[in-house]
Formats: sequence, structure tokens, C-alpha cells
Amino acid sequence: DDAAGQAAFDAIIAQDSRIEPRDWMPEGYRKTLVRQVSQHAHSEIIGMQPEANWITRAPSLKRKAILMAKVQDEAGHGLYLYSAAETLGTPRDKMTEDLIAGKARYSSIFNYPTRTWADMGAIGWLVDGAAIANQVPLCRASYGPYGRAMVRICKEESFHQRQGFEILLELASGTEAQKQMAQDSINRWYAPALMMFGPPDDDSPNSRQSMAWNIKRFSNDELRQRFVGMIYEQVKVLGLTLPDDQIRFNEETGKWEHGPLDWNEFKEVLAGRGPCNAQRLARRREAHEDGAWVREAAAAYAAKQARKTE
Ligand code: 3HC
Repeated sequence: DDAAGQAAFDAIIAQDSRIEPRDWMPEGYRKTLVRQVSQHAHSEIIGMQPEANWITRAPSLKRKAILMAKVQDEAGHGLYLYSAAETLGTPRDKMTEDLIAGKARYSSIFNYPTRTWADMGAIGWLVDGAAIANQVPLCRASYGPYGRAMVRICKEESFHQRQGFEILLELASGTEAQKQMAQDSINRWYAPALMMFGPPDDDSPNSRQSMAWNIKRFSNDELRQRFVGMIYEQVKVLGLTLPDDQIRFNEETGKWEHGPLDWNEFKEVLAGRGPCNAQRLARRREAHEDGAWVREAAAAYAAKQARKTE
């Protein structure tokens, strides 16, 4: 019954152990996991679009092959995470319908345009770098299927981050125009990448409960400042700069500090009024409609197979 279930759940959380799909769990725990895991899955799927924009225009066969592999990885991450969300009792069709109807959130970062080839570098280095900073702690999330999905996803993300850094390194050591293109891209992607970590802690309604349930291990600001410290060092290797002259390490607090972020822009993007929100949803809707015949054929085939075994 619920009292025994709640006691067992509380004990598992207190021991920092894993909750598995068949364990009793409070409705709020299930709800916040469906919310976060489905949004994470949507982010991976929508995140394919900004990069796909450059697959046909990659500067070499090598770069084209690497970018295709990365975008295919993102698709796999999305399917992995939809499967994790399904273990919580949410049908995949429902999650897809919500996304297509514009009722589901996905990461703010994918509502920005990819204007130049250098953006493939900045996305790999900054966006996948931020995703790694956020996802490594999620490998220890208390919900088993989510934490385990993160382990494999993080391994692939490190390839994504490295290939992005290498693109920027090549451009930064190329012609003056290539170096400028890389710097311009970092200038455009730096702040949106920092906002991927979520709103400031004092404006993060889900954090307290999510941390109490060992889903979120570190606060939004904690992970954001760690990430700033990482890229502050890495950008020196590129011989380029970050568009923020207020970055400094505060010896007393032991935290990195950075310039202000535009949380109004963040709220606009979350409200669906970012630079690319409409186009991202339209493209996702179109892909779903174009794929209807595949789903119908697969369902008809499965039904035929099932009749054979009756
Ligand atoms: N984009 C869109 N919505 C965001 C957001 C962002 N960057 N950051 C926060 N939000 C939303 C939250 O979903 C919440 O809204 P909701 O209650 O309607 O869901 C609201 O803003 C308040 O934020 P909170 O801090 O209270 O919410 P959370 O506790 O859920 O923290 C989070 C936000 C840190 C993003 C957390 O949800 C999380 O860790 N999610 C998993 C990570 C994820 O989604 N990563 C996607 C990155 S892209 C990616 O991985 C692809 C890469 O391979 C390129």
C-alpha cells in the first residue's frame, strides 16, 4: 500500500540507491521524471536540425562523415531517452504529439540559427561541452533507466565535444577570415550555451525537489560556473576569446564568476518566440508527416505477422 511504498521509496532515496520502473514511487517523482526525460529526448531530436543544416555543405568528406555520425548519435540519444520515459508509463506517441503540438519543452539552445560552418565547431565544443557538464551527474540520477541511459550518452558526447573543438582549432590556425569566423561563432554561442543549464538557482522551481530526490545532483548555477571555468582555459588553446570580460575565479567562494546573462531572451525562447522555434517545430511536424507511411507499413506488417501466429 502507499504507506509501505512511501517508506520503501524514502529508504532507497536515503541510501542513494536506484528506483526501478516497477518500484513504488510518489506521483510527483514520476511526473518530474517524465517532464525532464521527455524534454531531454525532445532536445536530442530537435538538436539534429541545426547541425543537419551543414551536412550537405561540409568543407570536406572527412568533416561531412564526422558530422553525419554526430547527428545520427543525437537521434539515437533521443530514442534511448524516449524509451527511458516510456518505462514511466508515457507512450511515445503522446510525447511526439505534445512536441509537434508545441506543448513540450526542449532545450533552448536549439532555437538559435547555425549561420556558418564554424557553428558546427562552437556547437560541438560549447553545446555538447555544456551537455556533458550537465549529463555526467545525471549518470547517478536515482531513476535507474535514466541514469543508465546517461552513461552511454556521455561516452558519445565526448566524441561530439572533441570533434567540435578540432573544427575550431583548424579554423583558428587557418586564414584571418577563418579565425574571424570561429571567433564570431563563439561570440554567438557562448551566452545561449550558458543558459542551457537553466535559470538562476533563485528562479528554478524544480531544483529543490529534484535534488531531494537525487535526480539533480548539482544546482543550475553550480554546473554553469564549473563549465565557465572549463571553457575559460580551453579557449586559450584556440588563441581566441570568450565574449565576456567579467570571467574570474573567486578565491573566497571557490567559484567562477561571469558576466550577466539575458534571462529575458531565455524566457522569450522558452515561450516559443526564439529565432528558430517556429521553423524547428514546422520541420519536426513535416518529418512526422513524411514518415507516416513507414509507421503504417510497419504496423500492417506486424499485424500480418501476428495473424500468422494465431
Ligand atoms: N531549455 C528549455 N527549458 C528549460 C531550460 C532550457 N535550457 N532550462 C530550464 N528549462 C525549463 C525547465 O524545464 C522548467 O520548466 P518546466 O517546469 O515547464 O519543465 C523551467 O525552465 C524552470 O527550470 P528548472 O531549473 O526549475 O527546471 P529543472 O530542474 O528541470 O532544470 C535542466 C532544468 C537543468 C535543463 C534539467 O531539466 C536537466 O538537467 N535536463 C536534462 C538535460 C537536458 O535536457 N539536456 C538537453 C541538452 S541538449 C543535448 O543534450 C543534446 C546535446 O547532445 C547536443
